Amino acid sequence: MVKPVIVNLTVNGEPVSRAVEPRLTLADFLRDDLGLKGTHVGCEHGVCGACTLRLDGVAVRGCLTLAVQCEGAAVETIEGVTERGVLKDLQDEFVARNALQCGFCTPGMLISAGELLERNPLPSREEIREQLSGNYCRCTGYQSIVDAVETTARKRSGQNT
Ligand code: FES
Ligand code: FES
Repeated sequence: MVKPVIVNLTVNGEPVSRAVEPRLTLADFLRDDLGLKGTHVGCEHGVCGACTLRLDGVAVRGCLTLAVQCEGAAVETIEGVTERGVLKDLQDEFVARNALQCGFCTPGMLISAGELLERNPLPSREEIREQLSGNYCRCTGYQSIVDAVETTARKRSGQNT
């Protein structure tokens, strides 16, 4: 058996110190060790975007990141983002625009779209599509998701929607 490694990190603002298997992914660590089930796991090889979360502010794939790589890092999941309320308007717009059905892709979509709006407060539809091209949705369709992100950006910028 492989010897566990101690990893110290911050998750949603809380310090965490755990012994983990070296091959444990960050997504599995969050879900199984910390009970943060909002980070979803779909393809498990970096394609679908369901596991997208923020690592030191950057949106990354939780399934392609090992927990042991996060020593000293700050991880934020959809739970943390929701608690801070920083994407409440975007989350409300997803509901208003019917931009989710089963919700499997939604945490990853929100994290990814939230990162875009921080970097580019008024993106074009093309830029929104480009940002979300790494997040697959199998049931809602992208039109309403792009609508929700675009409307949020316009409202934040004080534009009429
Ligand atoms: Fe990570 Fe699909 S589960 S990208
Ligand atoms: Fe079902 Fe996107 S809402 S996969």
